Amino acid sequence: MNYNGLDFNTYFRNHPDINGYFGKYGGCYIPDELKKAMDEITEAYLTICKSSKFIGELRRIRKEFQGRPTPVSHLERLSNSIGNVQLYVKREDLNHTGAHKLNHCMGEALLAKYMGKKKIIAETGAGQHGVALATAAAYFGLECDIYMGAVDIKKQAPNVARMKILGANVVEVTDGLQTLKEAVDAAFAAYSKEYKECIYCIGSALGPHPFPLMVRDFQSVVGIEAKEQFREMTGELPDAVVACVGGGSNAMGMFAAFLNEPVDIYGVEPLGRGPKLGDHAASLTFGTEGIMHGFNSIMLKDENGEPAPVYSVASGLDYPSSGPEHAYLRDLGRIKYDVVDDEETIDAFFKLSRMEGIIPAIESSHAVAYAMKLAKEMNRGSILINLSGRGDKDMDYIIEKYGIR
Ligand SMILES: Cc1ncc(COP(=O)(O)O)c(C=O)c1O
Repeated sequence: MNYNGLDFNTYFRNHPDINGYFGKYGGCYIPDELKKAMDEITEAYLTICKSSKFIGELRRIRKEFQGRPTPVSHLERLSNSIGNVQLYVKREDLNHTGAHKLNHCMGEALLAKYMGKKKIIAETGAGQHGVALATAAAYFGLECDIYMGAVDIKKQAPNVARMKILGANVVEVTDGLQTLKEAVDAAFAAYSKEYKECIYCIGSALGPHPFPLMVRDFQSVVGIEAKEQFREMTGELPDAVVACVGGGSNAMGMFAAFLNEPVDIYGVEPLGRGPKLGDHAASLTFGTEGIMHGFNSIMLKDENGEPAPVYSVASGLDYPSSGPEHAYLRDLGRIKYDVVDDEETIDAFFKLSRMEGIIPAIESSHAVAYAMKLAKEMNRGSILINLSGRGDKDMDYIIEKYGIR
């Protein structure tokens, strides 16, 4: 399929390019010493991803340990309550540990093992990536340090307990707003001291090359499975696919399989309390080009050009930028990015729980909220939503802040 002059038949062969660029976005903007460590990871990944032993081992893990394939469910009652459009969800909430994050963590940890590393480190926002990485570390017998903002530690207490039970060392970050961006800063600082023994397993499709490539590849199992399952269920492709976008891993995983198909693709960002800077984390909607955490992308900046403070009810979407491939596909017009606010999100959280018996993560509730709005506009057809995770981690917070609705 050709889209605005780009041939999507050959897209994955050329994106990213050899230096990790998607158009002008991406790259590897880190100190020379760390650059060597990244080159080592790139070389190891590009070798291992073609090895039948690695692919076979990952397939076995996905089936026997993660419980893949996760199903696609038809949301019949919710769809009927809206109108004629049929809504479907890809159930990453049923992936082991309750979110899509384990898809790339098992791949990253297997790579660490292959490279002879003893330790894996990462940041986490909602705690899902931290739990997933702690799980992978336990599975492969690796040490694991997880950096997490003090605000998120309080908000996501069940996930903090899970990481500790799994044997990970949770490092509290008390700088700045004490959320995801500061956790990434702290994890990077630690990595620059420890890169010989460990690898930094970035929690999303962002960071310096090769992480946007690697995380997309590991997550693409979501879209590949979902496309096949949807065809089996309905005999056709969905008219639209929808996923929430924080750093962009669950969205890229779902979207990759549909880029070369006649399907509308929507990435949903958090509008939080509203469009004023500081009240949201909708970087692709309101941001401008800039470099942060080792990559060039679209980001939200303050008056000094520094990453702006951001807010979202969802800790996992609370980040001032998004992965470079999203920025590229946004500019190209292949993916449309739009927003929903906290209120719409919480409404969707309760609707999916009450009408379908599925308690979604607050992050995923953004995608559900947007799909519900889109369904009203479309009038007919079908929408496939990536339900990136389950909401157990959010229940205490929701009840305390919003009560039972
Ligand atoms: C359930 C869930 N969905 C989505 C996200 C957002 O991350 P990404 O945009 O990388 O999928 C997170 C992040 O923690 C998450 O926990």
